[in-house]
Amino acid sequence: MTAPPERLCRSTLYVPASRPDMVAKAAASAADAVCIDLEDAVAPDQKETSRAAVVRALTTLEFGHRTRLVRINGLDTPFAYRDLIDVLEAAGAHVDAVMVPKARGPDDIRFVATLLGQIEARMGFSRPIGIEAQIETAAGFLWVREIAASSERLEALIFGSGDYAASMRMPLADIGGMDEHDAAYPGHRWHAVMHGIVAAARANGLRAIDGPFANFKDEAGLARATATARALGFDGKQCIHPAQLAPVNATFSPPAAEIEWARAVVAAYRAATQTGHGAVAVNGKMIDAANIRMAETTLRRAELMAANARETP
Ligand code: COA
Ligand code: MG
Repeated sequence: MTAPPERLCRSTLYVPASRPDMVAKAAASAADAVCIDLEDAVAPDQKETSRAAVVRALTTLEFGHRTRLVRINGLDTPFAYRDLIDVLEAAGAHVDAVMVPKARGPDDIRFVATLLGQIEARMGFSRPIGIEAQIETAAGFLWVREIAASSERLEALIFGSGDYAASMRMPLADIGGMDEHDAAYPGHRWHAVMHGIVAAARANGLRAIDGPFANFKDEAGLARATATARALGFDGKQCIHPAQLAPVNATFSPPAAEIEWARAVVAAYRAATQTGHGAVAVNGKMIDAANIRMAETTLRRAELMAANARETP
């Protein structure tokens, strides 16, 4: 298993392919990744013309350090194969990864991977295009382990609560939010699927991303949903509005004190192992190999943040 390329992914900003004005703003936003959407944000009669808009945006706009994603339509629609061929033949050299919605099983990912391989070979692209899979149906949840291990191109698993609720016939008032139905259930209704996604991602070296919070005026609700995703181990969260980027980036950025602690832990552990000890005390707390792994994750994330901050714009 080869590890996917390292990318900072605290925030992914969705932008409809049919809104070139907004795509330009997204390309210069505070998002770590921009996802130009051909799926649910584009009306059916705009699907065909939107592909050319995606190609134009990718080939003319400067995205800087931001990861460039394109969300294709589902593989159960008549649009998906042409989304891949038309957009990637023309602009594949400017795409980092394709997002596959409503992944139903490993065959969906393998189909996209095979087509990507053919397009790359035909067009002479030297850099492989990655895949991100949305886990947002009952089938996606049940096959999440197999999906996570389905292709070397796979980089991330993403939770989508709106479509998941629809697929499960769970009532849901607000995509990404908690509503009165949560009061009727003693726990967190998304816990099983969210935990499953993070475990499947971690077991395969993938990133885990939470879905968006639709009510972009509700700051407290976004903060609660983002903190929940962070607590469950997700690396980042999708956003639908630029106002959501700063709070989401902040939640997924390790605080300065955590970075300082991580440096102290790594230094103390290195010094200890040189003298034959596996566990040491730092500021009155026991540190062993498990703390080192957490500390190294924190430091790696901090390095990526610093590298992106050095870049312009
Ligand atoms: N990307 C880039 N810019 C965006 C944006 C986005 N997703 N959403 C809003 N903006 C811009 C607006 O163009 C506006 O810019 P301006 O100040 O230069 O005029 C500014 O941010 C403020 O926008 P606002 O007026 O608050 O919202 P809106 O009514 O223009 O748009 C939505 C609201 C929901 C239609 C819009 O945020 C959107 O389309 N989001 C993405 C939807 C999507 O892709 N969904 C699919 C995945 S679930
Ligand atoms: Mg969806």
